[in-house]
Amino acid sequence: MARESFANRTTAILAMAGSAIGLGNIWRFPYMVGQNGGAAFILVYLLSAIFICVPIFISEAYIGKSTQLSTFGAFEKLAPGSAWKWVGLLTVITPIIILSFYSVVGGWSLAYLFKSLTLSFTDASATQEVHGAVFGALVGNKWAGIAWLTGFLVLNFGVVTLGVSKGIEKFTKITTPILFVLMVAIVFYSLSMPGAKAGVDYLVKPDFSKINGHVMLSAMGQAFFSLSLGVGTILTYASYMKKEENLVSTGVYTAVFDLMFALIAGFAIMPAVFAAGIEPGAGPGLIFETLPYIFSTMGRDFPALSAGVAILFFTAVLFAALTSSVSMLEAGVAYFVDHKKMARGKATALVFGFCWIFGSLCCVSTRLFDFCDRLTSDFLMTFGSLLYAVFVGWRLKKADVLQEIPRPIYFIVRWIIPLVIIAIFISNLVMKG
Ligand code: PFF
Repeated sequence: MARESFANRTTAILAMAGSAIGLGNIWRFPYMVGQNGGAAFILVYLLSAIFICVPIFISEAYIGKSTQLSTFGAFEKLAPGSAWKWVGLLTVITPIIILSFYSVVGGWSLAYLFKSLTLSFTDASATQEVHGAVFGALVGNKWAGIAWLTGFLVLNFGVVTLGVSKGIEKFTKITTPILFVLMVAIVFYSLSMPGAKAGVDYLVKPDFSKINGHVMLSAMGQAFFSLSLGVGTILTYASYMKKEENLVSTGVYTAVFDLMFALIAGFAIMPAVFAAGIEPGAGPGLIFETLPYIFSTMGRDFPALSAGVAILFFTAVLFAALTSSVSMLEAGVAYFVDHKKMARGKATALVFGFCWIFGSLCCVSTRLFDFCDRLTSDFLMTFGSLLYAVFVGWRLKKADVLQEIPRPIYFIVRWIIPLVIIAIFISNLVMKG
């Protein structure tokens, strides 16, 4: 049976950008910046994104595109009978773990959309403590958390069972631009708040003494997380690309879109964090405490404005989250469909079931949530990316790879990336030891 492919190049880029742009940019980036010292973290993040992530993106996409298979099959086809196929296993497990804790945050977004619809963020006199308490109550109520998580996963299930072209393509095109425009508007508002300047300084004036092995690993991990690398999702999406499409431009476009969203989110959130006197290192709740404060003060003179902006914003965030989570689900499902010849519906139900159980555990235990969050980006995705780079740089035939990947990028993939990742891993081990 012929495999479905994306209708054209723009759609392939949009689907990958849809996977990349999500809660990682809007929720995770600002909280990571806040926990790791601001501008210095951003600097390492940007360098990692440009010099490490783009070449890895191209390598990972190369494996999918050249084989038109998802993870396991792709490795078996390119390196038959070797142990490389176990990388495929890693890249099925990782997205499932990510999806589990990601769905907790997806559930929070759904809850906040509901709160916006019930006009919870229109009281301009509500202090930052009030908004903090609203978030605290949501996290404290485990059953509510599980209910919202379930809602989020059901939405994912719906999208994936509709299939690649019908479900994902239409989805991605409408929501991302809406989110972009809203976020730019929030940046302007946030910058106009009294006390916002300290937040801007925090984002643009690096304190180099803050850079250490841990910050480097976190920044690199965030860059991998944000671009959905090292997990097989980009590989799986690239397997639907047509032969004539260019990997380098796809990688560069996706990274540029993704970086833009992260930076804009930083400038939307941090000035308001400082203006409101919120602790920048507050952790995973940062945006959920800050945004409602922004929305409610925004409507000081026009309460309808706060409600309108909040509803549109959380709707757009939900869609951005869905296009990312769907890509994780898709990577897991593609494995069972392509490799185990399982029916699509059954495969989706299986992945759904696992994520529901594990996600519910993450709702109940903040420690498990934090552990999965750090484990996946700082270790599994980084390690997965290292393996992709080594596979393309060392295992595949150079002449084949050079037909799609330019020589300087090939050099980076073969030498620079393995050395940098291993050095950062070692420095973290030494620091902990
Ligand atoms: N890149 C996504 C985001 O920034 O929200 C998260 C993500 C999607 C991670 C897909 C991993 C993945 F496979």
